[in-house]
Parts: sequence; structure tokens; C-alpha cells
Amino acid sequence: MNFKIALLPGDGIGPEIVEQAVKVLNVIAEKYDHKFEYSEALVGAVAIDRTGNPFPDETYEICRTSDAVLFGAIGDPKYDNDPKAKVRPEQGLLAMRKRLGLFANIRPVKSYEALIHMSPLKSDLIKDVDFVVIRELTGGIYFGEPRGRTEDGNTAFDSCVYTRHEVERIVELGFKYARERNGNLTVVDKANVLATSRLWREVAQEISGRNSDVKMELMFVDNAAMQLIQFPKRFDVIVTENMFGDILTDEASVITGSLGLLPSASIGLQTSVFEPIHGSWPEAAGKNIANPLGTVLSAAMLLEYNGFSNEASAIEDAVARSLTEGVVTPDIDAKSKFGTSDVGDWLAGNIQ
Ligand code: IPM
Ligand code: MN
Repeated sequence: MNFKIALLPGDGIGPEIVEQAVKVLNVIAEKYDHKFEYSEALVGAVAIDRTGNPFPDETYEICRTSDAVLFGAIGDPKYDNDPKAKVRPEQGLLAMRKRLGLFANIRPVKSYEALIHMSPLKSDLIKDVDFVVIRELTGGIYFGEPRGRTEDGNTAFDSCVYTRHEVERIVELGFKYARERNGNLTVVDKANVLATSRLWREVAQEISGRNSDVKMELMFVDNAAMQLIQFPKRFDVIVTENMFGDILTDEASVITGSLGLLPSASIGLQTSVFEPIHGSWPEAAGKNIANPLGTVLSAAMLLEYNGFSNEASAIEDAVARSLTEGVVTPDIDAKSKFGTSDVGDWLAGNIQ
């Protein structure tokens, strides 16, 4: 079947990792008789350089009219070190989330046998870890108004805002995921301090009351941060607000031993976006050393979400084989002779 994929490589290592995912998608198309039609678009620092806007209207149009978006990474040190910059690459990511209505970010965290030795945690703690974090993505302190500075510049403020509707739709999604998995949902908040968290808790309890098939627990975020590294196996599905989810998913990513491996899906009102959870790693750009697996697995998620389950499994199996056979980039094995493109080629060949 004909399927339209928007490619947004972005900055730093983005282009080279997206290229590997496309290699893999191309052999999938051949093998399963699909036609994937790609349209490339600008986002991030490259988009600022060429158009002045980190998420140009043209990019939005391409995303909106595609069946799915595969995204690389954004970010450039020339903006990180300049807090006064008026336009920033990250604004492109936030604008994309808002304009496409991507209110849920799904980050699966799963340990791979071949990588267990790389985790900073003891191996018996992380063997068989398998949970999903659902992060709310278009609300909270990331977008709340008012925000800014007072006139004299000496006071700054951000607002954390959630509506009942925003909380309901994301918590409902948490219940749906838990129901399809092992039936356990952890709702993470800071209801002992924040008004928004008390709304989350109230809504979660209401939804729990009509969904007795799922066992819900409520947990404060500081406790969750601790339990994630102490007992990662106890989690099945976690649902939380935007900023808590940002922080907890970075924490969760090291459990598995490699940030380079984790994919994510951002879903919502329009086209869904699939992207690795790592950043643009500018120091590695163009050196053929970046790990393409997070992006390749994001392509697998893209297929899974769009009903191509066998195709997605074929990619996941090939990735698992590449890890067992040691066809990995230097971040996983410092002595490895395989670069970004070698891993992409190997995966494509292996799937074929
Ligand atoms: C992420 C990133 C972004 C976020 C940044 C780049 C704005 O850290 O996707 O987790 O904070 O959401
Ligand atoms: Mn983050």
C-alpha cells in the first residue's frame, strides 16, 4: 500500500541516523510490497539558518498531509550557550508538538540481554525490565501562560496550567495502555504541593473508579524518581505531566544501558511523530559514529502504530540480532569497527 512518511532529520547527527532508518524502511517496503513515499522537511537550527523559523509553515503542511513523521533530533550549541537568543531550535520542537496536537509522548523502556552489562544498575535489577512512560506533551509548565520577566528584568516566572480535559485524555490513555499490558498504572504527580497535581489526582481517581480492571497507584514524583532506579521492574505503565515526564524518561533511559536505543512516539490529534529520545549530539555529527538504533526502532514504532505489525517485528528482531552479534556503534562497544552506516547496512541486509 501507498504510505506517506515525512522525514525531518533536523540537526547534528539527525540526518545520518534518519538515513539509516530510511534504508531499513526501504527493504521493508520491498519485502512486504509497500510503497513508502518520503517528503523531507526542515526543523530546528537548520530551519532557522535557512528560513528564520525553527518550524516553518511548509514543514507543518508536509507533516499534516503525511501519514506519519520520522524525526531525527534538534539542537545546536550555538544556541545553548546564548540564553539571549530570540529564536531557538527547541522552539521548533515545541511548535511541532503544539500545532500537530501531539499531547501524548510514549516512551517504552525495555532491557536488552546483550546490553545489561552496560547499565549503571546491577544486572539482577534490570533484567526483564519492561515498562512504558506516557508523558503529557502539550500542557503544563512548557506552555502555560503567563510566562516571562517583569519589566525590570529581575524576576522571571513560568506557569504550570492543566485543564480537566487535558488530564482526562492522557490519563485515559494510560488506562488503555495498562489494560493492554499487565494491568498496572502508576500516576505520577506532586499533589502534596501543586494545584495542577491535585487536579490530576482527582481526575485519576474518578477514572479509576470506572476502570476496576486496571490497578492504579498514585505516586509522588520524588518517590517515583527513587523507585525507578531501585525497583524498575515494579513498573508497567507510568503516566505523568510534561515536565515530570521529561525528567523521568531521561532517568529511565539509562536503566537499559543505552540512551542511543530508545525510540518514542508522539501521538495526538493529527499526524503522529516518531523519534529517538536522544538529542542531536553535535560533536558527533558527520563522524559516522552515532548509534542509529533509536531511530530505527522509532521507524518500527511508526509501522506498529500504523498497523504494520509484522513489518515492525521484522525490524525489532533485526535490531536484537545486531546487538547479539556485536554489530554496534562505538557507544555500545568502544572497540567496534562498525559505524552508523555499517549498522544501517547490516540491518537492511539482515531484514532482506
Ligand atoms: C525531549 C527534549 C525536549 C523537551 C527539549 C529539546 C525541548 O528534552 O524531547 O525530551 O524538553 O521536551
Ligand atoms: Mn527531555
